[in-house]
Amino acid sequence: MSRFSLRSDFSRTPNPLAEALAGLRAQGLPPLDLTVSNPTRVGLPAPDAGALHPPGAFDYAPEALGLPSAREAVAGYLRSRGTAVSPEHLVLSASTSESYGWLFKLLCEPGDDVLVPAPCYPLFEHLARLEAVQTRSYRLPLAHGFGLDAGEVEAALGPRTRAVLIINPGNPTGHFLHEGELAALADVCARHRLALISDEVFADYAWAPAPGRVMTVAGRALPMPTFSLSGLSKVAGLPGLKLGWMHVGGPDAARDEALARLEWVADTYLSVATPVQLALPRLLAHAPVFQQALLERVRANREHLARARPPGATWDVLPAHGGWSAVLRIPREPGEEAMCLALLEAGVLVQPGYFYDFGGGAFLVLSLLTPPEDFIAALAPLTRVLGAAG
Ligand SMILES: Cc1ncc(COP(=O)(O)O)c(C=O)c1O
Repeated sequence: MSRFSLRSDFSRTPNPLAEALAGLRAQGLPPLDLTVSNPTRVGLPAPDAGALHPPGAFDYAPEALGLPSAREAVAGYLRSRGTAVSPEHLVLSASTSESYGWLFKLLCEPGDDVLVPAPCYPLFEHLARLEAVQTRSYRLPLAHGFGLDAGEVEAALGPRTRAVLIINPGNPTGHFLHEGELAALADVCARHRLALISDEVFADYAWAPAPGRVMTVAGRALPMPTFSLSGLSKVAGLPGLKLGWMHVGGPDAARDEALARLEWVADTYLSVATPVQLALPRLLAHAPVFQQALLERVRANREHLARARPPGATWDVLPAHGGWSAVLRIPREPGEEAMCLALLEAGVLVQPGYFYDFGGGAFLVLSLLTPPEDFIAALAPLTRVLGAAG
């Protein structure tokens, strides 16, 4: 056998949940799926397909950081959300995931590490490892509603830590970063010469307005290099179109150096397709329509869930303020996996907390994107199985 790299040596053994699910599907008994995360498959509004046939689509425009018109469209979108940035400080990529890859190349030597929150969406370990970078976790304490504790960040630092990643609002916790948390984090970053990578893909999905929240770190005078990430996947529910962006900020000299280096990285790949860049103004004009429909869906499903919880139940829906998920805290026994298997037997698919590195108890994660008829149909078996565990 040829030799392959350790960083591409990922486990391909299916977990017991995946095996049980495959078994049910093979028998023609698909469960009600409360893990759906693909916004194109849940009946939410899509843009007019004509947007994808812009004039000039076949012109090859090798502008490494993105077409000026597309960067201006992103700046205009951010302006419409109350954030003034220069298009010159925006970099387009094929997705937020690709932006991470570019940032790890920009910031880290092989073997360096970046700090990632726990709990969080399980993407960063893979993205880092593919760039020969390690991850170290800092805890988001449940006692603070999964808010950021700068003391936890500082305690998690190692001698080779180069950057701190925040997910704002958290996925799946739905906690927004607060001004005081950002100020304390900026102090840690400045003292330890760390860059801040702020993943803001869910920032448009606050369930209700509230004061003191940080919606983006873009356009702020912060003492460390900052990278604010988002893209069409979540902003307009269009992951298949492959367009992400990052805003580069922080002290002027570091920002300009980062932009020059990112231009070189981007020029090596030239991965963003011309048609989607030309279509961007129309796609972003559609974003509010999609977001409104999604927010109505998410709020309604969350209300159904809250109403389905019997008084005195041994499980809770954890408080949250935004995003696409609900987190349930469940009794520690019989354990997350056993609970997910029991639910699957009752015809309902949910995710165990360990997928997201929760720790400190037992948790389940439910997708609030689920079409309402499936979500409502799942509530009776869900409450019955959870109730039996108490
Ligand atoms: C927090 C977070 N960041 C990034 C991504 C990846 O987004 P993209 O499709 O732009 O790569 C996801 C995907 O679900 C996510 O949950």
